[in-house]
Amino acid sequence: MDEASVASEGALGGAGVGLRAGALGLVVRLAAEGAGALIVVLTGGEKGEEEKSRYEKAASHEVTLLARPSPAVHSATIMSETPPLRIDDDTWLLVLTGAGVSAESGIPTFRDAGGLWEKHRVEDVASPEGFRRDPELVWRFYSQRRVGMGSAAPNPGHAAIAAIERRLGDRFLLATQNIDGLHKTAGSERMVELHGNLYTTRCSVCDRPPFEDHEVHLDGKLPTCSECAARGATALLRPHIVWFGEMLDPANMKRVDDFLLEAKRHRLVFLAAGTSGAVYPAAGFVDLVRQMRGETWLVNAERADNASAFGHFVEGPSGKVLPALFAT
Ligand SMILES: NC(=O)c1ccc[n+]([C@@H]2O[C@H](COP(=O)([O-])OP(=O)(O)OC[C@H]3O[C@@H](n4cnc5c(N)ncnc54)[C@H](O)[C@@H]3O)[C@@H](O)[C@H]2O)c1
Ligand SMILES: [Zn+2]
Repeated sequence: MDEASVASEGALGGAGVGLRAGALGLVVRLAAEGAGALIVVLTGGEKGEEEKSRYEKAASHEVTLLARPSPAVHSATIMSETPPLRIDDDTWLLVLTGAGVSAESGIPTFRDAGGLWEKHRVEDVASPEGFRRDPELVWRFYSQRRVGMGSAAPNPGHAAIAAIERRLGDRFLLATQNIDGLHKTAGSERMVELHGNLYTTRCSVCDRPPFEDHEVHLDGKLPTCSECAARGATALLRPHIVWFGEMLDPANMKRVDDFLLEAKRHRLVFLAAGTSGAVYPAAGFVDLVRQMRGETWLVNAERADNASAFGHFVEGPSGKVLPALFAT
């Protein structure tokens, strides 16, 4: 199997994140942790049933298969001119963004960096194991990200998303995989930051609420939790970011879930922009929306991994395409 998403509980999954290669292990873990329904999204239909039994055997848990139709049934079309996207008074719009939307603000995407972040392997700087092994390196890495944001400003793509939200109000929701906070700066309010936020910190031990934090730790001195210290314990603070192998915040998934449930009674449009379609569960949103008979749009600089699942694909930079799409 080359693509899978894993979700547990709820239509969209109350929690769960899986990468392509890590999906089977995650299903096994979720099952062991007593997850409710497990939904696995597979591509390449035919072999789906085979894969389903492989998952069920490994996890000793029933798995629901959500196979994608083959690209031939719903082929993506590349359009040279921006096609019309109809947004009327009954339209509910879910927008999903990824690193590509911030590329025109000068923030490198994961792919641009060759799969490495500033020459570090992702698992060293963006996983709980990496943090346990070398918290100094992890804090240095995220401190550099904080510094590196410098004067980065939202681009016309961010602005177009904020403008369409102002038009639609509660009929709009933005789910972003970006941690850079540029959507908020651009004025987006109805938003879930699926992977956390670069300027938010939390305790790695206690459950004090995450807090805004612009501090940088480049000198190897690690930040510790004052609330744990007050109880006589020492605990490291950590970036409030969803690392590889970690669960998404169920509250965020619930917000997307609730939005879709409400939108189901209306004209639902889903638009993904600047995302490679490889990181789940967000990469599986398109399948869920299509199951709900919603309209699906992809705006990306290149064919994303899950491009064939979309009804419309507009190839181009989001800073140009989004203002044009939302202007109609
Ligand atoms: N800005 C950020 O916050 C940031 C930056 C890098 C990585 N990340 C994290 O890395 C993970 C990577 O997943 P991802 O899918 O978001 O990013 P990705 O880097 O895997 O993919 C980005 C996609 O955007 C496309 N793209 C590049 N420039 C574009 C443009 N100007 N307009 C439209 N599309 C463009 C690329 O072709 C690619 O398909 C995410 O989990 C994210 O949290 C975040
Ligand atoms: Zn604490």
